Parts: sequence; C-alpha cells; structure tokens
Amino acid sequence: MREQTSKPSIAIAHDKKVYIAITAATDMDNYREYVEENRAHWDELAEHHPDTDSYDVESFLQGESSLRRLEREELDATGRRLLHLQCHFGLDTLSWVRNEGVAHATGVDFAPTAIETARDLRDQIDLSPDQTRFIESDIYELPENLDDTFEIVFTSYGTIYWLPDLTRWAEVIATHLESGGTFYIADGHPLAEPFHHESTAENLQAAYPYFNTDPTTEEFDGSYAGWDFGLENKRSHGFSHPLGEIVTALADTGLRIEFIHEHPWSFFQRFDVMESDEDNRWWLPDLEYDLPFTFSLKAQKPA
Ligand SMILES: C[S@@+](CC[C@H](N)C(=O)[O-])C[C@H]1O[C@@H](n2cnc3c(N)ncnc32)[C@H](O)[C@@H]1O
Repeated sequence: MREQTSKPSIAIAHDKKVYIAITAATDMDNYREYVEENRAHWDELAEHHPDTDSYDVESFLQGESSLRRLEREELDATGRRLLHLQCHFGLDTLSWVRNEGVAHATGVDFAPTAIETARDLRDQIDLSPDQTRFIESDIYELPENLDDTFEIVFTSYGTIYWLPDLTRWAEVIATHLESGGTFYIADGHPLAEPFHHESTAENLQAAYPYFNTDPTTEEFDGSYAGWDFGLENKRSHGFSHPLGEIVTALADTGLRIEFIHEHPWSFFQRFDVMESDEDNRWWLPDLEYDLPFTFSLKAQKPA
C-alpha cells in the first residue's frame, strides 16, 4: 500500500535551488519522526532477509561474492581501506574484503539486528575485526561516532531513498574520505521511481511525480526480498531525489565527478513483469525503448 501524506508542490521544482533548500529544511525538521519508524522497519527486515533466496547467505558462506559485476568492474578497491554506508547485514562489506582483496572495510548501518548479524557472519568466515568492523549509526550522526577517513566510500542499491537530505549526506561522505579518495554509488535511477509496479514496457504508468518533495509513506508486510514476512513494523518513509540533486549535493562538497553511468536493469523487481539474470539484475522483457533503472557514479576528493 502506498499513501501520499500530502500533495507535492511541483511548482517549486522548476527552480532547483529553491527546491533543494525547501526539501532539506522541511524533511530534516521532521526527520526524527521518520527515522524511528524506518529503523524499526529495517531492524525487523534484517531478521528476515538472511533467510531469503534473494540474499542467499548459504552461497555467501560457501565463498561466493554478493557483489554485482557492475561495482566489481567499476571500482578498483584492491588493497585499499573502504567505508561502506548503509551496509545492511554486511554481505557486500565482507565480500569486498574476502573476495575483492580490500585491505579493510568498515560497515555502517542504523539497524542493530543488521549489525549483530554482520558481526556474526564475519566470525563465521574467519575475518578479524581489524579486517572488517561494523558500526551501528545513523548516517547523519556518523561523524560523531567515527573518527577515521578512508580511501574509498562505497554505498549501493537502496540507500539514498531512505535519506531526506542529500546535502548533509554528501558532507558526511566528504568528511570520511581522504584527500585523493574515491566515492562510488550504484543505486536506483531516479527516472524509474515515479512508475507504478504494474507498468510494462508498452504501458508505463506514472504514479508519483519525478520532483517529489514529500516523503512517500508506505506500509508493507515485507520487502523486495519477500512480500509476506508479516511485519509488525510495516510503516516506512522514503524520499525521492532527482538526478540533479544527487550530483549537485556531491559537487557542492568539492568532490569531482568522474562519471555517471546509466543502466537499463534494476537491482530489484521494480515492475512485476521484470525477469532476472544470473547477476541478479532485473530486466523488462521485449523492451522496445530503453529506460534507465540503475545509475552508478564515481567521484574523487581532490588531493
Ligand atoms: C536496501 S538496504 C541496503 C542495501 C544493501 N546494498 C543490501 O542489499 O544489503 C538499506 C539499508 O539502509 C539502512 N538505513 C536506512 N536509513 C538509514 C540511516 N538513516 N542511517 C543508517 N542506515 C540506514 C537500513 O537499515 C538498511 O540496512
């Protein structure tokens, strides 16, 4: 069930600067109200996700990487120190170290159950806390909970949708990035977000504005990894961000954008008709016209 809390004010979206300022102020004012419901929702999902086919913990424990080909090919992290924001229960954080030769990874998430499971998985695959550590923290409070800087800051697949203010998000990234370091994100393309999940290639049904200035409040029994967990904490609040807002927030901190790549596959089954491939990418079958469902972006902090 999706429920809009109030009508978005699309008129102001034409002036990007005004739009961003108003979004940031309004959403951060209400953030405390949203964050506790989001944390409870994600904490309960973290109890269920390790048992799903979608996360396939068994294959991970047998040595398979949970990372997709995209980030493995676009981000050379071998031998480097990496900070993973919104790491969930740690499969990707641990895969960077065990499978991709990252020297050290720190994973951060605000859901206590996710962090506990991540530490347990680390112990099961015999990585030490020196190689991989997990910190429970809200993204916006990270500078108060972590002193270190890193050669790489990484985040992927289902991250900025949960954050109301990208200006403050980008500042956290810049704070924890060494001079000369690399930021990398792969996530859902904002252009795909307005479409209803019953859309097909022939019939795209817009359900939300692209310039959505209000939070989207939803109630679900589960998640993309299983729709029927019977959650107690069903309610969550998400925040749409146009592509220009994402790039501008990062550029405003002084990061130099190296690339933005757009991809015609989704990291989850965004439309009911989508089919997945062996790399866990979801495609529209018989797509007559391309649509971007994922973007990846790399940026450098000047030396
Ligand atoms: C879709 S998952 C991340 C996806 C990850 N790539 C994966 O599939 O394992 C989103 C994560 O963001 C975390 N999260 C949401 N809002 C957060 C916040 N404000 N601070 C820290 N973590 C947050 C949730 O707890 C959840 O683990």
